[in-house]
Amino acid sequence: MTITVSSQHKFYVSNGRGEEIATAEVYEKQNTFWITNVWVHPDCRERGLATNVLKEVLRYYKNSDLYLGVHGFTNRPLSDDQLAEWYKKFGFEETSVPSIMVRRGRRWHD
Ligand SMILES: CC(C)(COP(=O)(O)OP(=O)(O)OC[C@H]1O[C@@H](n2cnc3c(N)ncnc32)[C@H](O)[C@@H]1OP(=O)(O)O)[C@@H](O)C(=O)NCCC(=O)NCCS
Repeated sequence: MTITVSSQHKFYVSNGRGEEIATAEVYEKQNTFWITNVWVHPDCRERGLATNVLKEVLRYYKNSDLYLGVHGFTNRPLSDDQLAEWYKKFGFEETSVPSIMVRRGRRWHD
């Protein structure tokens, strides 16, 4: 039996009263890193919170390939196409798998 140790990181912004108002989580699966739960509290949207949290994720994982599935959730203020265009601004590219995008990590020999 092989026991796999996977890592997971949660990035969040709190409102100072212990409540999370913006989140993104990264988990490792078979040596690949996946971003999930990119979310901002409806009362705190359109102030750049998601952008700042995503930038922190990209800074933390700058040397790793980062995957994500573009699937809006909760009340979906942004369509999946709008979300994909937004992720492209951070260097994410479409893959051959529909709705899956990847951002290549920095390669030391570049
Ligand atoms: C998607 C989401 C995280 C964006 O959070 P946010 O803090 O409002 O985003 P930001 O303020 O950082 O804005 C990000 C971009 O989206 C645009 N945007 C945000 N809300 C928008 C809206 N309601 N209509 C149009 N554009 C919008 C901003 O203008 C910005 O674009 P820019 O980078 O070209 O300036 C938030 O709407 C959310 O939690 N949605 C529900 C969960 C979800 O669908 N998550 C994505 C899963 S893949």
